[in-house]
Amino acid sequence: MSHWDERADQYRTSDAHREGPDLDRLVEWAEAGPGVTALDVATGGGHVARRLREAGCTVVSCDPAPGMQADVICRAEHLPFDDSSFDVVACRVAAHHFEDVGLAVQEMARVAGKRVIVVDTTFMGEDVEQAEAIRDPSHVRNYDEAEWRSLFEAAGLEVEEVEFFDKSFDLQAWLDRTGCKGEDAERATALLGGRVEDGKMRLDRIALKGAPR
Ligand SMILES: C[S@@+](CC[C@H](N)C(=O)[O-])C[C@H]1O[C@@H](n2cnc3c(N)ncnc32)[C@H](O)[C@@H]1O
Repeated sequence: MSHWDERADQYRTSDAHREGPDLDRLVEWAEAGPGVTALDVATGGGHVARRLREAGCTVVSCDPAPGMQADVICRAEHLPFDDSSFDVVACRVAAHHFEDVGLAVQEMARVAGKRVIVVDTTFMGEDVEQAEAIRDPSHVRNYDEAEWRSLFEAAGLEVEEVEFFDKSFDLQAWLDRTGCKGEDAERATALLGGRVEDGKMRLDRIALKGAPR
């Protein structure tokens, strides 16, 4: 069982994942509604898939961790779908875990007919990168706007929209989700500096919408 399988229930109920203006924007950018087909890549607790289904879309979810109970078990770097299989391909708060994010964006672009939407924690400096890696060793990297634009362009996607959101959530729940405690929790919290206040922590998210050229 992977660490993701063990954490599946926590991601289903997490305050950092289940709602937020970034999720609302994703649904808006998807032009979600009946007749729209969508792929939710790295579905985790399934919040993107749920919201798109509620809006009337036909959704396939995928994730490599069986415990996440996605429709298809696969990594973002190899999506087992034909070219242009879905109107919309969305991926939220997951790309910072991908071993090969460039390949993942290329795969998302390949299977998307009309648009690709990515939401992820954005790069906020090396201290936050270190905090994230201490708290969760599966953290690879957060990317800034320029890096995301390059990733989209290299995958043949024209960037149509970029928006930033600041997301505030419970610090202790963030540490508990990955079992980060003791000295590690203290070091990670210290590295977050002014982003921690009154038991809450603040991380910035970037959202991008792109269309195949
Ligand atoms: C934080 S959760 C996703 C959150 C979810 N998308 C949401 O909006 O609430 C991160 C997910 O990324 C998945 N993951 C990790 N590495 C992956 C990869 N290489 N390809 C696809 N998914 C991956 C994990 O299994 C996990 O379910």
